[in-house]
Amino acid sequence: MSARVALVTGGTGGIGTAIVHRLAKMGHKVATNYRNEEKTRTWRDRLAGEGIDVLTVKGDIADPESCEQMVRAIEEQAGPIDILVNNAGITRDTTFHKMSYQQWMDVVNTNLNGCFNVTRPVIEGMRARKWGRIVQISSINGQKGQYGQANYAASKAGMHGFTISLAQENAKFGITVNTVSPGYIGTDMVMAVPEDVRAKIVAQIPVGRLGEPDEIAYAVAFFLDEKAAWVTGANLAINGGHYMGW
Ligand code: CAA
Repeated sequence: MSARVALVTGGTGGIGTAIVHRLAKMGHKVATNYRNEEKTRTWRDRLAGEGIDVLTVKGDIADPESCEQMVRAIEEQAGPIDILVNNAGITRDTTFHKMSYQQWMDVVNTNLNGCFNVTRPVIEGMRARKWGRIVQISSINGQKGQYGQANYAASKAGMHGFTISLAQENAKFGITVNTVSPGYIGTDMVMAVPEDVRAKIVAQIPVGRLGEPDEIAYAVAFFLDEKAAWVTGANLAINGGHYMGW
């Protein structure tokens, strides 16, 4: 596959780092956004030590203006963005009857509105160049719902609605748009779930363990391949058999 410029939002997180790693090893020029400069510098130095050079640009995906500036900055420094992975996401878990408006808005603004904010300034270039790959990182909990995650599940289900509409509108421009829905992966986000609650969740996974971040990155790479040109509007569940919708 020819080298492309790829933007992976939330690249410093658990799944994000694995995606950045895999895309860079495939020869792509990878960019990601950051909010915390110091944390990101440490992360970038660690990857540089592994021979991976990542372009990091300040950007808050919950803020449309910040995203516009971030996209333009990446394009100036690296060139047009051909690959976009909407990966950044947050949780504010609590049962709905205790959920504040802020907890609802924080999650929806980042996970779902972030897809609008980042994709909107990227899509016109892809359409003009008649090539693009967009992948949304959703969640098993957008498919099955989850006790304590009305905000997160709603945002993650919304991401796939976004995927299938964009897939239809942009198919004739050589742009594919797909969703990957990870189950419970061994990242900081999942490790923040109380241990007793997490143990009960792991007990429901037929494969018998949490997933590895690279098991998600592997699937993302499939959707990005030149040969995946006829795969669009799909939602690939990767969850160790935890939820088998069809
Ligand atoms: N189904 C039915 N009942 C449940 C339940 C479930 N899944 N989970 C909790 N309950 C019940 C409890 O048994 C308890 O009942 P009683 O009051 O009768 O004893 C009641 O709900 C309250 O439970 P908690 O004491 O746990 O309530 P809490 O307010 O302290 O915490 C919670 C609630 C925040 C939702 C906590 O249970 C929790 O963190 N759950 C995990 C949520 C989760 O899976 N988050 C995923 C984060 S990772 C991620 O999101 C990545 C991804 O994409 C997969």
